[in-house]
Amino acid sequence: MKILVLTAHPDLKKSRINRAWFEALSEADAVTTRDLTAIGGPEMRFDIATEQALLLAHDRIVFQFPFYWYSAPPVMKAWMDQVLSYGFAYGPGGDKLKGREFLILVSTGGPAESYHAGGYNNFSMDELLKPFQQTASLTGMTYLRPFVTHGMAVATEEDIEATVPAMLAHLTDPELDPKVRQARLLRKLAEDPAKAAAIS
Ligand SMILES: Cc1cc2nc3c(=O)[nH]c(=O)nc-3n(C[C@H](O)[C@H](O)[C@H](O)COP(=O)(O)O)c2cc1C
Repeated sequence: MKILVLTAHPDLKKSRINRAWFEALSEADAVTTRDLTAIGGPEMRFDIATEQALLLAHDRIVFQFPFYWYSAPPVMKAWMDQVLSYGFAYGPGGDKLKGREFLILVSTGGPAESYHAGGYNNFSMDELLKPFQQTASLTGMTYLRPFVTHGMAVATEEDIEATVPAMLAHLTDPELDPKVRQARLLRKLAEDPAKAAAIS
């Protein structure tokens, strides 16, 4: 499985957690990382053919960003507006992303308990990330469970380092899609008819 990580941070050099994630991902096997701010430059202009070819060459697309005003920094949106084009990602013939997997990797300043009904952020991350989920749906991609790390406002360097193994394990888990996991379990059961008979 080939993984493409599109990192949307306005200044990775000044980042704490997204830089740690970006560096770890850049060393991982079968992962391509892209710092969109460095690539798009101050005008946030992308070479559409290059970006689309990269999407086609990968199986799992990851949007990585710090949560800014309940969304992604503007370079992520600039990339989406330019690259997810009519006839490529949607509309007639726009089925080029169909069947790929899509995953959000995000850090927040606020603590986990604030991202609930009754918390000061009122809504869960699953709710706040809905525009990305629907983008995946419209473009025919399978939306996978996001990887979210909260509490960056108070996190220590040790806290940040401790997130890296779990983040890598999540992003590279080939069975994040429950359909894929279930298909493997069914195959296993088919190989063991006694067990299959017992649960059917
Ligand atoms: C412009 C701006 C907007 C932000 N908006 C939010 C927000 O809506 N919710 C939140 O929990 N944190 C918010 N934060 C905090 C960032 O999410 C936090 O600093 C970031 O996840 C840390 O990542 P980094 O170390 O990679 O920079 C905001 C920070 C900035 C600078």
